[in-house]
Amino acid sequence: MKHLLKMADLSAKEIIEILNMADQLKYETRHGIPHPVLQGKTLGMIFQKASTRTRVSFEVGMYQLGGNALFLSARDLQIGRGEPASDTARVLSRYLDGIMIRTFEQKEVETLAEYGSIPIINGLTDYCHPCQVLADLMTIREFKSGFDGLKLCYIGDGNNMANSLIVGALKVGMEVSIATPATDKPHPDVMAFAEQHDTFRWTESVEEAAQGADVLLTDVWASMGQENESALRAKRFSGYQINAGLMEKANPGCMVMHCLPAHLGEEITKDVFDAHADEIFEEAENRLHAQKAVLVRLLGGKTTLK
Ligand code: CP
Ligand code: NVA
Repeated sequence: MKHLLKMADLSAKEIIEILNMADQLKYETRHGIPHPVLQGKTLGMIFQKASTRTRVSFEVGMYQLGGNALFLSARDLQIGRGEPASDTARVLSRYLDGIMIRTFEQKEVETLAEYGSIPIINGLTDYCHPCQVLADLMTIREFKSGFDGLKLCYIGDGNNMANSLIVGALKVGMEVSIATPATDKPHPDVMAFAEQHDTFRWTESVEEAAQGADVLLTDVWASMGQENESALRAKRFSGYQINAGLMEKANPGCMVMHCLPAHLGEEITKDVFDAHADEIFEEAENRLHAQKAVLVRLLGGKTTLK
């Protein structure tokens, strides 16, 4: 594993190794045990879109690992004025030890990986959000003690979150059900991968998808870059909400997760969000630990901490 571009590139073994290291890093962080394994290393963080969690967790993560992180707003880089990603990759590879990028097109991330000579980490594209899903899987395993026999259900837009969740959850052996409008299904590549599994089901019906779920997830109806379609999308997704009624279809003890930011009253009601805040904010914290494991693996070349 040289990069983290999308969940499909990871084997089940690699995912589990990352989660194991993330658990250990979380334990050490919580107990004040230092782990400066990336001393002298610098991560460049290119942002073409806004971020709270990704930016702060990567920056703090590098600091806790003994390295440095540079926040590079696309507004200030030449890439924002049209310098090709291929040239940006070749230049930044000579200064940095790794790049995390949040952008629109998956192609841009793939181009950095193709032309650069350092690890590239996808911090969200329109296509996928692998860092979030590693943290999500870590959180599920933490609360449910494993993945075997568990059903994950995602309700809402077949967007970057849906694409990565489907692939990640199927790879670790969970049953996966997805409810989206027929107009907003997950990416065709993801559907093709998923349909090879008899543990996968897509439906337009939220009730059918949520039946017997052990983990329910959702995401915003309008992602970054779709703000001008918000009103239209709010109409299209109005039935795609996690609420108390839907929770009744799920298994007792069903977790509820959200990558955040959340729009309460849209994709999730306030009562359900509040009742599951422990899970949702643990999920947010786990971004830090899961990404540190990715950084140790990619920038430090280690598959275990010791
Ligand atoms: N979930 C997530 O990626 O959050 P940010 O957009 O705040 O980074
Ligand atoms: N689907 C959302 C996820 C934000 C973390 C977006 O792309 O804006």
